[in-house]
Amino acid sequence: MQALVLAGGEGTRLRPLTLTRPKPAVPLVDRPFIRFMIDWLARHGVDDVVMACGFRAVDVRAAVGDEIPGGPSIRYLEEPEPLGTAGPIRLAAEAGMLADRFFVLNGDVLTDLDLTAHLAAHEERDALASLALYPVDDPSSYGLVRRGEDGAVRGFLEKPDPADIDTDEVNAGAYVLERSVLDLIPAGRAVSIEREVFPRLVGQGLYGLRLEGYWMDIGTPERYLQASWDILEGRVETAVAARMGADGTGIDELAEVEAGAMVSAPAFVDEGAQIAATATVGPRAVIGADCEVGEGAVISESALLAGCIVGEGATVEGSILAAGVEVGAGAAVTAGAIVGEGARVEAGAELDADARVEPGGIAA
Ligand code: GTP
Repeated sequence: MQALVLAGGEGTRLRPLTLTRPKPAVPLVDRPFIRFMIDWLARHGVDDVVMACGFRAVDVRAAVGDEIPGGPSIRYLEEPEPLGTAGPIRLAAEAGMLADRFFVLNGDVLTDLDLTAHLAAHEERDALASLALYPVDDPSSYGLVRRGEDGAVRGFLEKPDPADIDTDEVNAGAYVLERSVLDLIPAGRAVSIEREVFPRLVGQGLYGLRLEGYWMDIGTPERYLQASWDILEGRVETAVAARMGADGTGIDELAEVEAGAMVSAPAFVDEGAQIAATATVGPRAVIGADCEVGEGAVISESALLAGCIVGEGATVEGSILAAGVEVGAGAAVTAGAIVGEGARVEAGAELDADARVEPGGIAA
């Protein structure tokens, strides 16, 4: 089975993380995010992945590689300009890469939904296109899908007024399509599959299947962090579980946690990281490879990507530090801050809530 993964967006809501790495290549816990998706696809029998890339395609390729031992084959489709969520399907067909039946996935979702059941329902209904539907508590910021008892889609509601909401099922960005949907995708321009293709298929073989399980679009800082904790706490099926100890902390054998340091679950400390004896890490912390956390420093509810240095007595709470960030002694990075790659927070500085520091920038 083939899967075409949409991985070409700019990821503006995750800036400044996505100023230096495309969203699929941004690390989540211990690996580039997109690796979680590929593992999930492989678990459901996908053996041929086409990554549809545009923005920083080279970096996506570097993060995923051309071959995953024991995994699916990976091919890359590079868009000369952004083609939206349907255009890449046409481009794949023109490049001779498209199968007769295939999955299309939004490339920014951490999930363990049952794609095998999704495909089986598609085949059973003899559908042209099938949408995975996911129930959410507050559907107001998503694309809602109305369907009948038999699963036939009746219509769409995009970010609706609360009064108009009569379903909790949102479009989960995971589709099974027959090749003939190509006829509905105009060539040579960006096309939205949600707005331009699916509405034309209502009543013509478009179905939705409600799937339970874990589903999180990691495209905002809050959801990125929540997805990290959900991985650490085992709420979503991933390979990270094997690296977590029974006490809810995962400490790589090549990390150096000095005696006396407090590491509270859930927390993950990756290879080569050093945690000083009087530092406090967690609950809810990811310390990336080769990070250094100094004496008396406190890290909680935060993710530090590889190679960050947090000085003595500094605090990092509810924040994300991109790779190679330095936080000086006694500084405070709190409440939703995101510090871009290689930036420096000066000793004693206190960042505002929701602060954004550009890659390579200096926050005083
Ligand atoms: P924001 O800018 O923060 O909204 O993020 P985004 O650029 O990822 O956009 P959005 O979350 O709406 O995109 C949903 C999925 O479609 C993501 O996996 C994107 O990578 C992907 N995507 C969006 N536009 C394109 C495109 O033009 N080409 C390709 N190949 N993928 C796209």
